[in-house]
Amino acid sequence: MSTANAPGGDVRSKELPARYEFVLGRLPDRPARVVEIGCGDGDLARAMARAGHDVIAVDPEAPQDAAPVAGLEFRRCAFEDAELTGGAFDVAVASLSLHHVGDLGHVLDKTAGLLRDGGTVLVAEFGWDLIDEASARWYNAHLPPPPYPPEAFLAAHCDRWRQDAAAGRSRPLTEYVAEWAAGERMHPSSTLLRELRSRFEQRHLAWLPYLHDGLTATEADEAAAIRAGRIRATGFHFTGTATPPVPATTRRR
Ligand SMILES: C[S@@+](CC[C@H](N)C(=O)[O-])C[C@H]1O[C@@H](n2cnc3c(N)ncnc32)[C@H](O)[C@@H]1O
Repeated sequence: MSTANAPGGDVRSKELPARYEFVLGRLPDRPARVVEIGCGDGDLARAMARAGHDVIAVDPEAPQDAAPVAGLEFRRCAFEDAELTGGAFDVAVASLSLHHVGDLGHVLDKTAGLLRDGGTVLVAEFGWDLIDEASARWYNAHLPPPPYPPEAFLAAHCDRWRQDAAAGRSRPLTEYVAEWAAGERMHPSSTLLRELRSRFEQRHLAWLPYLHDGLTATEADEAAAIRAGRIRATGFHFTGTATPPVPATTRRR
């Protein structure tokens, strides 16, 4: 995904500026030592480095032969395999990557171990499990005509839903969403939040519009529908703090 209207590139994703604002606005004084889990094309990592932070950005698909940016190092491997120094980071950032990782518990244990005491984890995510029937139908109603933009992540599933209904095989649209999530092996938001809260002290949680990306609706349209109770908020920003492990002698039995 490339970025415009955000520091560093061409924006295609409509919800991207909010994610940049969330992350860049919560980084501590520069230069913070930042590790990014699942950096994708590296645009957010570049923005953090350009803002004066020292960033190690990890992703099997991290850019190769990218133009160097001071303070930024890409590691092209799975986060689980990255050799990183425990306790060496002030901040860990994960933008839409945690729902994809295989062993979420292992990834979050490693994340917690990389942070210094009091370090911060910043997570931007969404919950496919929060897309209820009304939200999925709102999504379907705001699809542009085909060919769909790549950001319209539910478009093909909405097409299947309509085709099945036309053939007399009506099923709830949420079943198609669940099939998509199972095919992509995506963790639901309930699991993401439970596993985050079991390792980090929650400091901030904001629920946000997420579905409008790739649709004819704007963020304001989606926000208004959420406020009116017509659909659910499906995006969230989580801020947590690494807490020192409780010594065995003081642990409750
Ligand atoms: C939806 S993309 C998000 C990319 C980018 N963070 C963004 O916000 O645009 C998910 C990214 O997570 C990466 N990813 C998935 N599992 C990973 C893992 N175990 N370690 C590191 N990156 C991973 C994928 O390669 C992909 O680039």
